[in-house]
Amino acid sequence: MTRNGETVKWITARRRHPLAGYVVVILALAFFGVGYAYVAPGADRAEAQTLATEATGDDQTDVARGREIFVRSCASCHGPSGEGTGNGPDITDVGGAAIDFQVSTGRMPSTNPDAQMPRKASMYTQEEIYDLVAYYEEEIGEGPEVPLDVPGSAPERSNFADEEAYEAAKAEYEEAYEAYVSGADDVEVGMELYLTNCAHCHSWSGSGGALTDGKWAPELDDASPRQIYEAMITGPGQMPAFNDMIIQPDEKQELIAYVKDLQNEPDAGGIFNLNRIGQVAEGFIGWTVGLSLIVACAIWITAKQRAHD
Ligand code: HEC
Ligand code: HEC
Repeated sequence: MTRNGETVKWITARRRHPLAGYVVVILALAFFGVGYAYVAPGADRAEAQTLATEATGDDQTDVARGREIFVRSCASCHGPSGEGTGNGPDITDVGGAAIDFQVSTGRMPSTNPDAQMPRKASMYTQEEIYDLVAYYEEEIGEGPEVPLDVPGSAPERSNFADEEAYEAAKAEYEEAYEAYVSGADDVEVGMELYLTNCAHCHSWSGSGGALTDGKWAPELDDASPRQIYEAMITGPGQMPAFNDMIIQPDEKQELIAYVKDLQNEPDAGGIFNLNRIGQVAEGFIGWTVGLSLIVACAIWITAKQRAHD
């Protein structure tokens, strides 16, 4: 017999093997699974980016309104051109990301130049902050830009004329948020990055901690993904900056997904709490249940076929 004939016989023999059906099904599933995992995050991220760009469309910003805000609430401490005064530092090289972070977390405008400002509700809407950033970038200085592809704070009802517009904006926000957080490649890597770079100040559970001189590292519960990103690239107060070379954008995404996992847990249980059901676990359970169903179908079909043979 020829070599070819033998090969065919070898394959035929194995194709008849009772397990052959399962092997084919499992190989196919693995193939689709890997293919999906490879394609999905990229697509999600692209979508999040488009949503963010639409939401902020450059032509919607009003530089004049940004100037008004700066003159009224910032210039007294930071100087008319941001060069700094005895009451506030030079902000000409901190970038739009620092403006967005400080004002959206309610730290600025400060009420006491000698004390660390706690996080509180912002005095300005996100639109007003974009105007301020636009003015800053045109007239005051430059530095790290607002990471527009990272979802910021959820829309607030009071900023919308009617319920319908608000619901639409909320749905859009939630989609972008989900896409960003679940688009992270590997939340385990995020956990390691968090424990190495952040936990000694913010604590391993993200609940914050005291520093020297009456300063403190705040709890991370309320920070939006964008605020976490901006804190890293601008290094507010005592916090060091982690620019995109030190922790790369996709690693930041993994780290943020991990912090968000911590936040979604009622008792930030961490590594030793086996009840932890985060996003990763949910995805995994969904995948396992789906897989089991398909395998069960495959078994049922091959069993029927065998009964016929
Ligand atoms: C009462 C004085 C005061 C006012 C008003 C004020 N700031 Fe500040 N600002 C400060 C002080 C003091 C700091 C330093 C805080 C720290 O490092 O803990 C600061 C820090 C900042 C930083 C961070 C700088 C850095 O190095 O990262 C930014 C950005 C900023 N302010 C923007 C603004 C903007 C925008 C406004 C107006 C909406 C404003 N500030 C209003 C006093 C003020
Ligand atoms: C040396 C201590 C220190 C380290 C390390 C540190 N932070 Fe911070 N972080 C601070 C301090 C202090 C503040 C508050 C600054 C202020 O209010 O001026 C802060 C603020 C923040 C905020 C703002 C929270 C809010 O609700 O407004 C976030 C988010 C944050 N840090 C994330 C991180 C992440 C992520 C890391 C690790 C990559 C990290 N920090 C590492 C000290 C630290």
